[in-house]
Amino acid sequence: MEKQQKVAFITGAANGIGKATAIALAKMDQCKVVITDIDTEALETTKNLILEAGGTAVAHPLDVSDKTAVDALITKVATEEGGLDYCINNAGIGGAIAPLHDVKLDDWERTIQTNLSSVFYCLQAQIKVLLVTGGGSIVNVASMAGLKGMLAVSPYVASKHGVIGLTKTAANEYAAYNIRVNAVCPGWIETDITKDAPKESLDYILKRIPMKRIGQPEEVANTITWLLSPAASFITGNVVSIDGGTYIG
Ligand code: NAI
Repeated sequence: MEKQQKVAFITGAANGIGKATAIALAKMDQCKVVITDIDTEALETTKNLILEAGGTAVAHPLDVSDKTAVDALITKVATEEGGLDYCINNAGIGGAIAPLHDVKLDDWERTIQTNLSSVFYCLQAQIKVLLVTGGGSIVNVASMAGLKGMLAVSPYVASKHGVIGLTKTAANEYAAYNIRVNAVCPGWIETDITKDAPKESLDYILKRIPMKRIGQPEEVANTITWLLSPAASFITGNVVSIDGGTYIG
């Protein structure tokens, strides 16, 4: 008999896209949403919003760049929270802004660790669980910077290209085990990552968005929940842009 309540696990759920996705997931199939982040104060706010709306949420602090912590929490969720059905690997940082030859090694390593190695850690732990439980659906949050070169954000661009590579490989390796793995590529979305960006960058992008506006976190959340759901049952290894048609280069 199929279990009633699905369990979703999401990283970076305290703010922005992750927060909007956690809220959307709680409404989907009456999902139990396991929300995680390093920003524990804001994570409580996400949790309370879900609970106040009648949903089910459990909050856990998690630094996605800590492999041991990722492994431990995903194992705990699978055994103590009712399994694992949907996973959203979303946590990320913008990283330093500098031309490639000036990027400090620390900045390179921090961005790759937070945005790319973290997705590898999460995928490994999640797939190990899903192979035993009979399958599930995963969405990784990449970026339009995973599809094109940009200026002055080489660690970020490299990390997001890597997320797409991991997504496509995992999709091929685990399709036969009822595990779907897709990625989303948000364009310019109104969140903390973009709020301090230089005005020139926003002006540059706006000129290249046919819809003539930036996106909202909820618009990314809607695509993620759809990709996770049975409505997207024949879609895996796909990379979906949510960017108002942005063209760069
Ligand atoms: P945000 O800054 O609002 O949210 C990111 C969340 O990740 C925060 O809650 C932060 O505390 C958390 N986080 C950062 N480092 C962490 C770590 N080591 N462990 C656990 N949590 C950590 O930014 P936003 O925009 O919601 O970003 C979400 C994802 O979307 C990121 O992967 C970002 O690269 C991606 N993205 C965002 C775009 C945008 O325009 N806002 C465009 C393309 C991709």
